[in-house]
Amino acid sequence: MANRPIVHDIFEPRTSTWQYIVADPVTKAAIIIDSVLDYDSATNTVFTENAEVLLSLVQENDYKVEKLLETHMHADHLTASRYLQVQLQKSQASPPQICIGKRVSQVQEQFAMRYGISKQEYVNAFDHTFDDDDAFQIGQLEAKAIHLPGHTPDHLGYMIGSNVFCGDSLFNVDVGSARCDFPGGNASDLFNSVRRLLSLPDHYRIWTGHDYPPGGDVRKDPLPYYTVADQRKANKHLKDGVQEQEFVQWRRDRDVTLAEPRLMHQALQVNVRAGRLPQLSPSGDRLLHIPLKVRGEMW
Ligand SMILES: *[C@@H]1O[C@H](CO)[C@@H](O)[C@H](O)[C@H]1NC(C)=O
Ligand SMILES: [Fe+2]
Repeated sequence: MANRPIVHDIFEPRTSTWQYIVADPVTKAAIIIDSVLDYDSATNTVFTENAEVLLSLVQENDYKVEKLLETHMHADHLTASRYLQVQLQKSQASPPQICIGKRVSQVQEQFAMRYGISKQEYVNAFDHTFDDDDAFQIGQLEAKAIHLPGHTPDHLGYMIGSNVFCGDSLFNVDVGSARCDFPGGNASDLFNSVRRLLSLPDHYRIWTGHDYPPGGDVRKDPLPYYTVADQRKANKHLKDGVQEQEFVQWRRDRDVTLAEPRLMHQALQVNVRAGRLPQLSPSGDRLLHIPLKVRGEMW
């Protein structure tokens, strides 16, 4: 029988993000999925308190991190992948590769244009992009990148044994599904991606990208996964029996009411660069752009 992966689930409460370290028990090869770089909005400060937690776990367990995986271009948190890569290359013979889905280039182009980011800052920012259904190894574990478009067009899930790390393709049963109104998002695609996920065997674990409890706030005991059977029975938006048209209409009506993610501009400008910060300006600052909204008549 194939080895079962060791899964560490690490919740980042400021953005309600689930981060995962998945390791091969035999070789200690590991990957890190969807790491978070801390950001304080009040002072516009990035810091690495959360990333240090991940690095300690890696060190305590003597893991060799081969890949830093992103499920998609996140708009709600900044990725710590580049920071982790720089730190890990000090202690490992070879640095981990930062990886994402191949359609990231279309998302990068769109946001680079919006935020005025030069090509040299984002082309090849990722070390590797996965093709649909690419297989890869984590030590002796078999892994596969599965294309799950909908929330974003580049979105991947990572299947490792009977686990799928599905990012924002599916949330916990009482949270439901993610918005589909970002550029390239598509509720119809999300519906079909979720049907694909939920056609896996009943006992498969669907590890989610966030746990946003209904009603706001942070959940006291956030949950990292539900099984396929649980999701099919109880997902608030996408349980068995929900029709595509019904979901697409509902999602559309819902998405127009949602506010922009709190850290969207900061997150996208750093994530387009795979977690690198903007280069220093002549005055020695690292600058981000904030699109200004104007209430009332423009003067
Ligand atoms: C969403 O995707 C479906 C199928 O991939 C396509 O037919 C439809 O036109 C898309 N909708 C939008 C609004 O782009
Ligand atoms: Fe997301």
